[in-house]
Amino acid sequence: MVAVVDDFVANVAADKRINGFFARADIPRLKRRLVQQICAGTGGPCLYQGQDMKTAHAGMGIRKVHFTALVQDLQKTLRKFKVPMREQKELLAILGPMQKDIVAH
Ligand code: HEM
Repeated sequence: MVAVVDDFVANVAADKRINGFFARADIPRLKRRLVQQICAGTGGPCLYQGQDMKTAHAGMGIRKVHFTALVQDLQKTLRKFKVPMREQKELLAILGPMQKDIVAH
């Protein structure tokens, strides 16, 4: 799963639509927290030690286009790792509802 997160973060870093948001990000910490978040969200056993999604993304001015771009970068990774469509859809069903906390209103 670490390899999946590494590939996903590399896609984001190469994506001119959104990589500006990550210019001053602590990438190793972000990767650690993504791994924790996915692990905790899929039954553990592990603890997510990061902030909630609303707090973590507050004041960044993230719009729906940026959220969509990030999801496309993730789908690219999931296809590369040949994650079955069923699991891809399950993951997207978990991420979709987070949009309301991440996108600025
Ligand atoms: C469902 C979609 C997303 C998930 C699951 C997610 C998850 C996370 C997590 C777990 C963190 C770390 C929080 C912490 O350290 O306490 C984080 C931070 C961050 N996220 Fe997201 N995020 C999502 C969407 C986005 C989008 C669309 C953008 C911008 C285009 C974005 C930009 C950032 C940035 C810049 C940080 C701060 C990193 C740092 O300062 O170290 N995120 N996100």
